[in-house]
Amino acid sequence: MSAAPSSAKPTALVTGANKGIGHEIARQLARRGWRVFLGARDPQRGREAAAKLAQEAADGGSVEFLAIDVSEPASIARAAEDLQTRTDGGALDVLVNNAAILEDADQKQSILEIAPALLQKTLETNLFGALRLTQALAPALAKSGRGGRVINLSSGLGQLSEMDSAYPAYSISKTALNALTRQFAGALKSQKISVNTMCPGWVRTDMGGANATRTVEQGADTAVWLATEAPAELTGEFLRDRKQIPW
Ligand SMILES: NC(=O)c1ccc[n+]([C@@H]2O[C@H](COP(=O)([O-])OP(=O)(O)OC[C@H]3O[C@@H](n4cnc5c(N)ncnc54)[C@H](OP(=O)(O)O)[C@@H]3O)[C@@H](O)[C@H]2O)c1
Repeated sequence: MSAAPSSAKPTALVTGANKGIGHEIARQLARRGWRVFLGARDPQRGREAAAKLAQEAADGGSVEFLAIDVSEPASIARAAEDLQTRTDGGALDVLVNNAAILEDADQKQSILEIAPALLQKTLETNLFGALRLTQALAPALAKSGRGGRVINLSSGLGQLSEMDSAYPAYSISKTALNALTRQFAGALKSQKISVNTMCPGWVRTDMGGANATRTVEQGADTAVWLATEAPAELTGEFLRDRKQIPW
């Protein structure tokens, strides 16, 4: 087990971190000695994932489960309160808005036939979740002595320059998440909080499927870099493989 959390350690919250890319981001930050809050909507899955990753944490690092369903405003409010009581003075260094759903694949995919309810449900998680959580945690990020950082997990499917007709609900949600990134980047600049959005590439997870070309380590790389080594002035950008890509 890792040592008790220390307020001197950088602190991060990663949403949807019980599996997939979010889980790998949490693992890598803990291995660097960070205090990581592993956000998950299912308490059992979240506790199990946090306990497992805590064993891999570097000295002084830790991984703690934080209950959060990003599609539920009340759950976001509770998680923000919980985080405040569990952090020293309520400071947070990094927020990774990772949790997302892709449900187009199970239903009619065409924009000509898509049920508005599917788009609403997708936006509730992939867009409004990030909106509400970033709003709720902006005060905690502003207290970061290192300069707060927000990292949004977007997708190449959200790139307007590339967009055609695939996965309409998911794609639209990620384009909107990119716009949200620009808005928050502008609004939070004066508080020295950077806000960036990134595509992890096509990654072998439950969402990406077995044929995807990248490992979770590769998928997590840019997010971990943005959390740790990227210049603090880098904000309002859309990245893949640590480089800016077209919107
Ligand atoms: N995999 C890819 O190829 C790929 C490509 C481009 C972008 N991305 C993006 O990368 C991020 C991570 O994707 P992934 O491949 O790791 O997906 P994943 O394996 O399906 O994991 C998604 C995570 O989000 C959680 N989640 C979903 N809805 C939630 C909610 N309402 N509240 C809290 N947690 C919720 C899931 O929790 P449960 O276990 O409870 O369902 C799970 O932990 C997503 O933003 C995705 O859009 C992935």
